[in-house]
Amino acid sequence: MARLLLTGGAGFIGSHTALVLLEAGHEVVVLDDFRNSSPKALERVQELSGRSLDLVAGSLGDPATLERAFGGGLYSRGGAIDAVIHFAGLKAVGESVRHPLLYWDVNVNGSRLLLEAMDRAGCRTIVFSSSATLYGMPERTPIVETDAVRPINPYGHSKAAVERMLADLCETGADWRVASLRYFNPVGAHPSGRIGEDPEGIPNNLFPFVSQVAVGRRPELQVFGSDWPTHDGTGMRDYIHVMDLAEGHRAALDTLLREPPQLLTLNLGSGRGHSVLDVVRAFEIASGRSVPYRLVDRRPGDAAETVADPSLAAERLGWRTSRSLEDICRDGWAWQQANPSGYR
Ligand code: WQD
Repeated sequence: MARLLLTGGAGFIGSHTALVLLEAGHEVVVLDDFRNSSPKALERVQELSGRSLDLVAGSLGDPATLERAFGGGLYSRGGAIDAVIHFAGLKAVGESVRHPLLYWDVNVNGSRLLLEAMDRAGCRTIVFSSSATLYGMPERTPIVETDAVRPINPYGHSKAAVERMLADLCETGADWRVASLRYFNPVGAHPSGRIGEDPEGIPNNLFPFVSQVAVGRRPELQVFGSDWPTHDGTGMRDYIHVMDLAEGHRAALDTLLREPPQLLTLNLGSGRGHSVLDVVRAFEIASGRSVPYRLVDRRPGDAAETVADPSLAAERLGWRTSRSLEDICRDGWAWQQANPSGYR
């Protein structure tokens, strides 16, 4: 078993991955500044797994934080970090357009500081939280990893920049083991309803918005565009259950620890597309609540359809998604109903 550092491990995907890794017998150290997450998520992860984890509270921009993660008391007590799963970062497209330098600082400079600390500590195995957003307007769908990387917003550019940084490290001849995982649309929650997605303020993303309408926190959903070239005119996306995504991280980590130094770049998606109205309908069935909506204009920067070709991850990791849109809505509703105000 390995001792793993999860940066941003209290976040939506980080907390679900921490749970899967603890249950697989690994030791977990979480580094998080809680700017967009809650310590409660970590309490519940430990409750669900019946195991404890270590916490380094702070941000990657603070040298003392990295020293504690890779060198300080915790390090000497707990031992060296064998690998890092790097979730910490900002991920709101609209915010990145309004504050591009913030995204270049937190996402890119933060990653550079992390990689320098790893190199100094001789820890050269990392799974990176990348995003399908770096494909921009896809040339075709389903999307394969060799399709053009053409980000159309600063958030996407920051993810592409970190992927480039990692690829350059792999070309230095040192023994770096890297997996850049390009997530499609992570949604849902752990079936217990104890951990889930808890966005700050008005959700940018469809699934938490639908969920908040169903629980009565929002009056209605605005459907961005009903004239797309899709089966019902609304946007199509590849929704991946967060538990499938967490298991994909464990599979990527196991592969890196088992195989020689390499760079893996993989799409993590289901390979199935669902429209906005498909999601609304499925969520209404799962929750027994109505989700009122209004058809409005398209959102700038949106594509009609973004769906993964997940075959490379299946081939290299022996991993595929196993949960359906119905599972996603059932589990997402269990979280929302039990936690109408998230972790607050
Ligand atoms: C999904 C569909 C919208 C909200 C984004 C980021 C991407 C990744 C996942 C981090 C689209 C429609 C949405 C609403 C709507 N995040 N929609 N009404 O845009 O595919 O991807 O989240 O890595 O980087 O770009 O996800 O959930 O915002 O939109 O009609 O209130 O739902 O038009 O068709 P998206 P989304």
